[in-house]
Amino acid sequence: MNDLAPLVQDAEADFAAAALPAELEDAKARYLGKSGRITEQLKALGALAPDEKKARGAQINAAKQQVEALLNARRAALAQAELDAQLKAEALDVTLPGRRRGTGGLHPITRARMRIEEIFGSMGFDVADGPEIETDWYSFTALNNPENHPARSMQDTFYVDLKDADGGWLNLRPHTSPMQVRYARAHAARHAGAATMPDIRVIVPGRTYRVDSDATHSPMFHQVEGLWIGENVSFKDLKSLYLNFVQAYFETTDVELRFRPSYFPFTEPSAEIDVRFGSGPLEGRWLEISGSGQVHPQVVRNMGLDPERYIGFAFGSGIDRLAMLRYGISDLRLFFEGDLRFLAQFV
Ligand code: DAH
Repeated sequence: MNDLAPLVQDAEADFAAAALPAELEDAKARYLGKSGRITEQLKALGALAPDEKKARGAQINAAKQQVEALLNARRAALAQAELDAQLKAEALDVTLPGRRRGTGGLHPITRARMRIEEIFGSMGFDVADGPEIETDWYSFTALNNPENHPARSMQDTFYVDLKDADGGWLNLRPHTSPMQVRYARAHAARHAGAATMPDIRVIVPGRTYRVDSDATHSPMFHQVEGLWIGENVSFKDLKSLYLNFVQAYFETTDVELRFRPSYFPFTEPSAEIDVRFGSGPLEGRWLEISGSGQVHPQVVRNMGLDPERYIGFAFGSGIDRLAMLRYGISDLRLFFEGDLRFLAQFV
C-alpha cells in the first residue's frame, strides 16, 4: 500500500461506471492520457532526487500496470456484453414451426379407384391393368361387335395411325372391356388341361378414351370393368355383388339398385345399373352408373372357354361418375383441369 492506492481505486470505479466502450476510453484518458493522473505522477518524477526516483518510479509503474490491467478487464467485459446483446437480438427462435412445402394429396379419381379396388378386393376379386392402346380385335371383334358397329367409327373412337399384326387399326381403348378377354384368355391358358378351372373374378380399373367432350363427358375418362366367370355364376350373383359394392362404396344401406334392360353386343341379356339414394342431396333420383350383363356365348368362346360349360357376368362402371356422386361434384371437367382450389379440398 502507498499513496497511489486511492488512484487505482478511483480508476477501478471509473472504469466500472463506463457502460460503453467510448465512455471507457474517456475514463482511460483521465488516468493514462497526456495529462492523466498516472502521467502527472510520472512527470513529477523529474523533480525528485536520483535515489528517491528509482523507488518512486517502481511504485508508479506498479500502479500503472494495475490501472492497465483494470482497463483491459473492463474492455473485455464490455466486448462480451456487446456480443451477448447482439446474440440475443439476432437469436433464432427454434421453437417457431418451420415453413413446410404444402402436403400433396391423392386426386379424387385416384381415391375413388382405390376404394373400388379395396372393396372388390375384399370380395375376392383380382385387380388387373391393361393396355390403353388396344388392337381392333380386343376392343371390338372379341367383344362381338359387328364389323359396321358405330362404336368402331371415328366419331366415337380415337385411332392411332398404326396397324397391328392382324391388320386392324390400333385404338385408344374406348372402354375397359377388352381386358375381359385378355384376362380370361391368360387365366384359361394357365389352367388349360386341368380338370377344373378356378372362377375368373377380376376388376380392371383404368383410363378410357372417346371422342366426346362436355360437362359430363371427357375425351379421357375412367372405367372399371368387372368380370366373374365360372360354371355356375348367374345374374343373381351380379345383383347381390353389385349391391354389396354400392353399399360399401357409398357407406349406406339406404340405396336401391335398378337393372334396366339395355343392349351391348358383348352381353345377353344386358342391363344398365341405376342407383337411387333414400336420403341426401340426390334422394329419390335414379342415377345410371354402370352397364352390365351376362357375358355373350361368343365372347366366352373368344376367351378360349366353352360357353356350354362356362357362364358369367360382366359390368363396366364409370369411375368418374362414382367419384362425382360420392364427393358431390356436378361438373366432370373439374377433375381434369388441375385447379388447386378444387383439388386441395380432397387433401
Ligand atoms: N363397355 C361398356 C361401355 O363402355 C360398358 C359395359 C356394359 C361393360 C356392359 C360391360 C358390360 O362389361 O357387361 O359403355
